[in-house]
Amino acid sequence: MNEKHTIAIAADHGGYELKEDIKNFVFDDLNIEWIDCGTDSTNSVDYPDYAHKLASLIKNGQADKGILICGTGIGISIAANRHPHIRAALCTNATMAKLTRQHNNANVLALGARITGVELARDIVKAFLIHEFEGGRHQNRVEKINHGT
Ligand code: RB5
Repeated sequence: MNEKHTIAIAADHGGYELKEDIKNFVFDDLNIEWIDCGTDSTNSVDYPDYAHKLASLIKNGQADKGILICGTGIGISIAANRHPHIRAALCTNATMAKLTRQHNNANVLALGARITGVELARDIVKAFLIHEFEGGRHQNRVEKINHGT
């Protein structure tokens, strides 16, 4: 990463343990500033609440990117993508994470803790954090996403 970034991270109960791992073994290692939006245990919660919390932090500028984790990564990414300023990408490998930064300018990475193992998840997060949007031919396409229908 070229500039200093603040990353928001949130998970439901299915993603709680992976969230803690990412904070300890990726963020701390890379000296990344982060804000944890919860949840704080494996007690059952509703994943949309965490997607919406994280989306507001990005909207008000407290964080510039986010990481969302639920069991599959599906529900939490669907909820996040209801916000027009969010481009959340559910990634199951590091190539997807790299390309969604370079081509889609995704500002949120979604992970499925019941789908993706811890070591792979760490690599996916690193790829998402180190790659930048390429602009160029992708700019217009991202603008078309942002404009909606
Ligand atoms: C919670 O059991 C589970 O439904 C949630 O973590 C997620 O996988 C939803 O998409």
